[in-house]
Amino acid sequence: MRKLLVTSALPYANGSIHLGHLVEYIQTDIWVRYQKMSGNETYYICADDTHGTPVMLKAEEEKITPDELVKRVHQEHDLDFKEFNINFDHFYSTNSIENKELSESIYNALNDNDKILSKEIDQFFDESKQMFLPDRFIKGICPKCEAKDQYGDSCEKCGATYSPTDLKNAYSVLSGTEPIRKKTLHYFFKLSECTEFLKKWIKNDTLQPEAQNKLKEWFEMGLKDWDISRDAPYFGFEIPNAPGKYFYVWLDAPIGYMASFKKFAQMNNLSFDEFWKKESTTELIHFIGKDILYFHALFWPATLNYSDHRTPTKIFTHGFLTVNGEKMSKSRGTFITARSYLEHIKDPNFLRYYYATKLNSSMEDLDLNLDDFVAKNNSDLIGKFINIPSRTSGFVGKFFNHALMPLTSIKSEEGLMILKKIKDAKQTVDQHYEAREFSKLVKFIMQLIEELNEYISKTEPWKLAKEDQQLKSDSSLHEICSVCLKSFRSLSIYLTPIIPNLCEKIAAFYDEEIFNSFNLIQDDALKIKSYKHLLKRIEQDSIDAMVNSNSAEV
Ligand code: MSP
Ligand code: ZN
Repeated sequence: MRKLLVTSALPYANGSIHLGHLVEYIQTDIWVRYQKMSGNETYYICADDTHGTPVMLKAEEEKITPDELVKRVHQEHDLDFKEFNINFDHFYSTNSIENKELSESIYNALNDNDKILSKEIDQFFDESKQMFLPDRFIKGICPKCEAKDQYGDSCEKCGATYSPTDLKNAYSVLSGTEPIRKKTLHYFFKLSECTEFLKKWIKNDTLQPEAQNKLKEWFEMGLKDWDISRDAPYFGFEIPNAPGKYFYVWLDAPIGYMASFKKFAQMNNLSFDEFWKKESTTELIHFIGKDILYFHALFWPATLNYSDHRTPTKIFTHGFLTVNGEKMSKSRGTFITARSYLEHIKDPNFLRYYYATKLNSSMEDLDLNLDDFVAKNNSDLIGKFINIPSRTSGFVGKFFNHALMPLTSIKSEEGLMILKKIKDAKQTVDQHYEAREFSKLVKFIMQLIEELNEYISKTEPWKLAKEDQQLKSDSSLHEICSVCLKSFRSLSIYLTPIIPNLCEKIAAFYDEEIFNSFNLIQDDALKIKSYKHLLKRIEQDSIDAMVNSNSAEV
């Protein structure tokens, strides 16, 4: 049995969860559910990323404290995730005592290992606001590729990271004025000294090939020391023995993975050290978007290593979501929040299923095409999947007292072949889930579902129901329906990580609690309950209303 600690990136506490975020949380949740159903001890850990200037300024604007803002957003995020069936074992906050203590002790360890230096640097200062400007509040021209209006910490065009003073023609996002330069003492993590360690570290198949290439580019450019401090006023943790200086949010954010797990471990009597000590044999897996690769594949493993902790086993990086082929946009109404989806479309199964049809192990972007979203869900889930019980279960209720034929009584070659094929599918299902090839997986399962539908069309149980009215124990009507409904149950077990909420209803149809293990495939299902409607078609109107309500807001 494997032991896994799996994370999704911590969402910023200054905004709502949107459909782009959900690519990541749904992808991770599917993979975690798969691991749990396979019997692996797996913990899915997340938290809100609360520190930094945006939260501070937003709270100021709303005339509340940052703590109050962070609490409110946490409740909103928590509810959004629950309603999308994102099943975190712990969803915590980086603004916690555990995170403060861990951040301090990691910083002290880095210091003891001679990996911290302090020096006076020139920083941008907004005189009208009387504050040093954080990276994200300065914009200008990227020093690497000359793209305009890029943030002060990294370029969205070419992915380069740099310090804000490298920007050309910088301006303050807060006041629009040209910031002045002012000297201030900053603390740095000596990343440049970690290059050899990191080069070795990426050899272990930790990253996808595309991500490895990106790192090689960064190595070639040379790793720079990392500025981990910010001046007051700043919402965050003060640096030990450095009054008025705070940890940059990206220092304590990934430590938030540890802190969230620490709290969880305390509440559940688990060993924190078993998962984080240097020689840990457990797996540490991070799911992230491609925009935060630098932080996770360079800063984070180096921070862990030089503070005497284990390093990540794998970093799984995904691409970005586009809607109807373009970047999500407020004016087009395609910047869709999780809440807005829930209000209009309601059912989370559709988004989870649709993303699964698009997700693979690469870093390529994926597109949510709203027409395709409607067509695919209605055709696959309703027209094909749910179609199986809706075409067969009525006869079992009416003629056979809701009982399915036991496996040992099934005699027809075709029926036995179908059942065997679905049982044998497990191996392929495992491969695709483990490799995060969800789109291949869904294709493979849909193929089996189509074959089952063809079997129904060919054997025409509705005709048999007219002829074959004797409740014979060897009725071919009974056999056909039993083959279909046993198969449908197994297919539902396979699909549970993707559409858990729908599959919970399906489990109830077989009078079972939930499908929580793939071993349940071995059971011979012997009864069903009356079939109740499982899923409602998506109406185009609800999509239009969702898009309209989002464009109306700007
Ligand atoms: N707070 C940081 C992560 C800190 S982890 C120690 C952050 N937050 S975020 O809210 O901006 O993003 C959270 C995750 O969602 C990131 O992995 C990010 O890549 C992902 N996505 C945000 N927008 C996205 C899309 N439009 N498409 C796909 N994923 C996206 O980054
Ligand atoms: Zn650039």
